[in-house]
Amino acid sequence: MIPVLTIDGPSGVGKGTVSNIVANELKWHILDSGAIYRAFALAASKRDLLPENTKELIDLASNLELKFVSSPLKNDLEIYLDNQEVSSDLRTEKTAELASKFAMIGSLRESLLIRQRDFRKPPGLVADGRDMGTVVFKDAPYKVFLTANVEERAKRRLKQLHQKGITGNISHTLEEVRNRDERDSSRKHSPLKPSKEALIIDTSDLTVDEVVTKVMALVKV
Ligand code: DC
Repeated sequence: MIPVLTIDGPSGVGKGTVSNIVANELKWHILDSGAIYRAFALAASKRDLLPENTKELIDLASNLELKFVSSPLKNDLEIYLDNQEVSSDLRTEKTAELASKFAMIGSLRESLLIRQRDFRKPPGLVADGRDMGTVVFKDAPYKVFLTANVEERAKRRLKQLHQKGITGNISHTLEEVRNRDERDSSRKHSPLKPSKEALIIDTSDLTVDEVVTKVMALVKV
């Protein structure tokens, strides 16, 4: 059985940063499931599809041409949608909000399952998202759920946006983070919640290195 480490949690908690470092240390593959939802949202909005266009959305989910290419120079993933680089479009809060809205549709989530599970390849996978430990990789031997207070998460999200050259202010970001968490946690299908087996880490007062150390300790037991 190919091992999977799932890292779930709310927006701005630092899942992506931690997942990248841990995947590098373990030399495992990585799945940024949020990027799949974001790319899907971008593709759907380019085609003017609305959440009620269920059939068209499911067709699109099955045919989406999505490619992740690791870019060691930028220490990041380049994401291609229909052979076009869309990495920076994907990072905006507008795309995230749209992704969160489409992510409420149960049948759509189902049609994205295989695409996510295909990332499970030897020697192992680090998967980050909202439902990695509860639904997509329910059988994963290692599960982590990261939390942090909402003010800290808004600060981290804003710093991340600034690093990517995107502007924003703290009160607006705080509101966006709150709204998205509320939607992601209260939806009917695969809501954001820790799996029963997950190690819960409150990262509010921890450095990235401290979080990585705790996660690595879980996998190395
Ligand atoms: O992790 P992220 O911020 O890139 O995710 C963007 C949105 O996509 C998030 O608000 C909800 C949705 N999402 C989801 O429903 N399930 C996942 N496993 C990952 C993301």
